[in-house]
Amino acid sequence: MAAWADGYFTEIQYTANAYAELAPGFMAFACLRHGVRPPDFGAGSTYLELGCGQGFGLNLMAAANPDAQFWGVDFHPGQIDNAIRLARDGGLANVTFEDLSFEQLLEQPSGALPRFDMIALHGIYSWVSAQARSTIVRLLDRLLKPGGLVYVSYNCLPGWASLAPLQKFIAEHAAQGSGAPQARIIAALQVAKRFADTPGSVFHASSAVRMRIEEAMKEDPAYLAHEYLNKYSQPLFHAEVASDFEAARLTFAASANIADDFMHLAAPGALQDDILGVQDPILRQTLLDYSAVKPFRRDIFVRGRNSLDHFDQNDQLDGLCFALMTGADAVLTEFPIPIGRLTGQPVVYQPLITALATGPKSLAELRALPALAGAAYGAVLQALAILTGARQIHPLRAGTTDAAPALRFNREVCRRVARGETWNSVAAAAAGAPLRIPFSDQLAMHAVFEGIEDDAEAARLAWPGMARSGRRLMINGQVLQDQAANEAELAARIGDFRRYKLLLFQQLGAI
Ligand SMILES: C[S@@+](CC[C@H](N)C(=O)[O-])C[C@H]1O[C@@H](n2cnc3c(N)ncnc32)[C@H](O)[C@@H]1O
Repeated sequence: MAAWADGYFTEIQYTANAYAELAPGFMAFACLRHGVRPPDFGAGSTYLELGCGQGFGLNLMAAANPDAQFWGVDFHPGQIDNAIRLARDGGLANVTFEDLSFEQLLEQPSGALPRFDMIALHGIYSWVSAQARSTIVRLLDRLLKPGGLVYVSYNCLPGWASLAPLQKFIAEHAAQGSGAPQARIIAALQVAKRFADTPGSVFHASSAVRMRIEEAMKEDPAYLAHEYLNKYSQPLFHAEVASDFEAARLTFAASANIADDFMHLAAPGALQDDILGVQDPILRQTLLDYSAVKPFRRDIFVRGRNSLDHFDQNDQLDGLCFALMTGADAVLTEFPIPIGRLTGQPVVYQPLITALATGPKSLAELRALPALAGAAYGAVLQALAILTGARQIHPLRAGTTDAAPALRFNREVCRRVARGETWNSVAAAAAGAPLRIPFSDQLAMHAVFEGIEDDAEAARLAWPGMARSGRRLMINGQVLQDQAANEAELAARIGDFRRYKLLLFQQLGAI
């Protein structure tokens, strides 16, 4: 482990990700639903990501919110170099990256950085040392504006408890092996799998561990290394995080795991009265964490919790506009929730999806739909929240947005995908958020950006990048192996993109 890494795994760089939950509009919507006043995020607003990894998500957020200023900090210089290059090649002028540790950031003279409206930490807090966590809290105290929001995700207890032995097992096994870390972690997982397959073993006894091993075997080893190989990884109770954050005068505002915020989706009926009977908000969250097996939390904290009165809350919610983030025929209506799965009621979900298919609509407009006359306000709001959490829709930014930076950025991302690189999203300027799409859509976007009008020609030009990266298309779960089949399928998908998605992506300010 590198001496500068404080027990954090740095031998392989982390994967590049972008998450809707980190978008300013997503966090503001979560707060609004709870009657918590979110900061006004718009021209001149400031956003910091601590531990920004490859900086892909932060670059994308900067592209999609060009009137705000973004800062990203991560101590891995290779990752920060990649982030700076992507910002430069994507033509972004409103994002700054620094290769600093949290400790070094704290040592910066005051005023070196502005104060921030939002600070995000994704995949950091339960993966670093206690010392780094304490530094993070001091940074939050120093750098967050009054009324500002913090997004923090972490492996949480008690839900992660059954997985802790697996983490130790993999870390200890991988530490013994020889060769590249990728090979060591795969070898460690294979041994864990043999244990899980053997009746009588500890891993075999836990369905959560068996399922986690199955999932892990499909993951990128770079992700696995950062999940399992850190020296000080430590799952945390919500109460511990809330108590740490108290030192920065932060109060829990809402969950960015949307379903966790709905009592009837997060706790079985038999436990709901016990939870509702508790006044202390931290104990209430703790009881919710005991009500279902939930290994991962995404919390939003606010510095100075100001409640909106009921009228303000309803006005602000009514004024929020939502847009589909996928084709209407592809919208999911079944969702994982803490207590199992939720199937969206067709009488509520279908009218919403049908209306949004004709363009963005405000909550007030959606509530006024004749087809929703019989639906309760709470049911409509819940459906919009769940669809947002599942990345099927997203609240739009207020006012008009300059889409040019997002288009420049997306053009660069799609050009890189065409060369064989992997980036899971593009920027949607209208939403100020990531639009997660398959690489075939990114190749279709590349064809549109480059003015390639013939679909077969676009597919033919895309093949060398696919060949280089080993990416292949699938039909009905079958991987297409040869060049001709991949090109034919890709040409068909590019044609479909032009016919069915191009207009939507244009409305979203993505192309
Ligand atoms: C699991 S990755 C998450 C990256 C990014 N937030 C994402 O979700 O893609 C954790 C990141 O934290 C960074 N990190 C860990 N400890 C750090 C420290 N003490 N100071 C600065 N960065 C740190 C690592 O380099 C790594 O990029």
